[in-house]
Amino acid sequence: MVAVINFGGQYAHLIARRVRELGVKSELLVPETSAQKIKDLSPDAIIFSGSPHSVFDKNAPRVDKNIYDLNIPILGICYGQQLISYQLDGLVTTHESKQFGKEILKTENSVLFENLSKRETVWFSHGDQVDKIPSGFNVIGSTKNAKIAAIENKTKKIYGIQFHPEVTHTFSGQKIISNFLFKISNCKKDWDLKKQKDEIVKSLKQKIKSQKVIMAISGGVDSLVAATLLKEAIGKNLYLTFIDTGLMRKGEVSEVETIVNKVGFTNFRISKSGARFLFALKGVTDPEEKRKIISKHYFAIFEEEAQKIKNVTFLGQGTIYPDRIESAQPTKHADKIKSHHNLTLPKGLKLQIIEPLAEFYKDEVRKIGTILKINPEFLARHPFPGPGLAIRILGEVTEERLSIIREVDYIFISELKSSGLYNKVGQALAALLPVKSVGVMGDARTYSYIISLRSVDTQDFMTADWSKIPNVVLEKISSRIVNEVRGVNRVLYDITQKPPATIEYE
Ligand code: XMP
Repeated sequence: MVAVINFGGQYAHLIARRVRELGVKSELLVPETSAQKIKDLSPDAIIFSGSPHSVFDKNAPRVDKNIYDLNIPILGICYGQQLISYQLDGLVTTHESKQFGKEILKTENSVLFENLSKRETVWFSHGDQVDKIPSGFNVIGSTKNAKIAAIENKTKKIYGIQFHPEVTHTFSGQKIISNFLFKISNCKKDWDLKKQKDEIVKSLKQKIKSQKVIMAISGGVDSLVAATLLKEAIGKNLYLTFIDTGLMRKGEVSEVETIVNKVGFTNFRISKSGARFLFALKGVTDPEEKRKIISKHYFAIFEEEAQKIKNVTFLGQGTIYPDRIESAQPTKHADKIKSHHNLTLPKGLKLQIIEPLAEFYKDEVRKIGTILKINPEFLARHPFPGPGLAIRILGEVTEERLSIIREVDYIFISELKSSGLYNKVGQALAALLPVKSVGVMGDARTYSYIISLRSVDTQDFMTADWSKIPNVVLEKISSRIVNEVRGVNRVLYDITQKPPATIEYE
């Protein structure tokens, strides 16, 4: 296992995924993790991530200095290299000319750079630099503006690089990580998803035995794959419930029924609860409050459903690794962004939570789904958030707004499918802005809602770029929406990346 110390940089998840792509298990740890705890976990290697902080910040994350004496190889990336230099006896300074973007790295002889060229394109993204290396270290890489762009302490197997090997702009980045894992550290390639799947099923069997599990299924990939794992482990003791919050897309309920039948789940119930959610959301405009209300009712309904089944012990959930990290309580180093409704567990919940996919990233979940022989069409479905259309209607959720956004979403998604783009983009959605603008239709003045369409390209949903959908497709979508959906007279296309924007609107 590789321990990735997450200093709050947006790239920490990407590092963890890159390590897994190389067949090695990775786990994110908070900087406060003590050296003793790390020793107990006995990772084969440690990677320090980047960070939005400067080592000079008052609240900058640091590690327990005893980590440097654990005899475990360390690779510090960007902030990670600066921290190593700062905590050992080097010197870090803030330079006037900051380095952002592509740079040419001149590499020296080092195992870290084995099989690389003497000049490599790498990606920089930080203001501080190391100006004096700690004793015992050598410089193994430099650029025009950074004389100390990579360092090594061969004896202690501590390495630092000022650039980001985990991003694709660093062409040989994956080779560098591979050299660190297999040539410097003693990592083994044993993160194999087929094996993982067998192990999950085995441990679910051991944990659940002949007790009953109720599980929320949403039609999304995560809950579907998690439920299929549970089905394989416990068969008829799995009880699936689909809570129709009334915040669903057009046709969602029947699509979920099709999926459930095709996969062959037996105990399945639909709880029609639309009116209850709409009533609870009346007059509520604050995004976090909406999420909390939905979460509260969602879990209450779940408990009611569980009571109908009798003697249910567990509640199955499709939570995946980034959900847990993004929803984590704010630490000193990362802000809480949103409360994912399926993670804010109400106090006093009588069911024990079971999360078969809590260790996996989205792309891994899809691969597990393929191993389970789930129809590829179901696995290719874009994510749909638990709070549903409520977080795509900014401001108050009303019946009228719901029916508008449903029609708009249906046109948008249908057109993406018919133009062959649906499977190429990561997630597409429509949001209703609670403002009206003036338009003209026929000879009449209109005063209607504005719709914002968002489509993003992303691998991990942690960072995302807006999809470059061809103009002809956008034009057709826009004209269909304003012609076919009453109450909308203007369509915008969102061209913001995540970060700074999130994928959903609330
Ligand atoms: P954001 O908006 O945070 O979304 O960039 C990242 C991914 O998470 C999904 N999402 C949710 N999924 N419950 C969920 O199950 C939620 O409360 C929730 N909020 C956001 C979002 O659709 C995107 O795929």
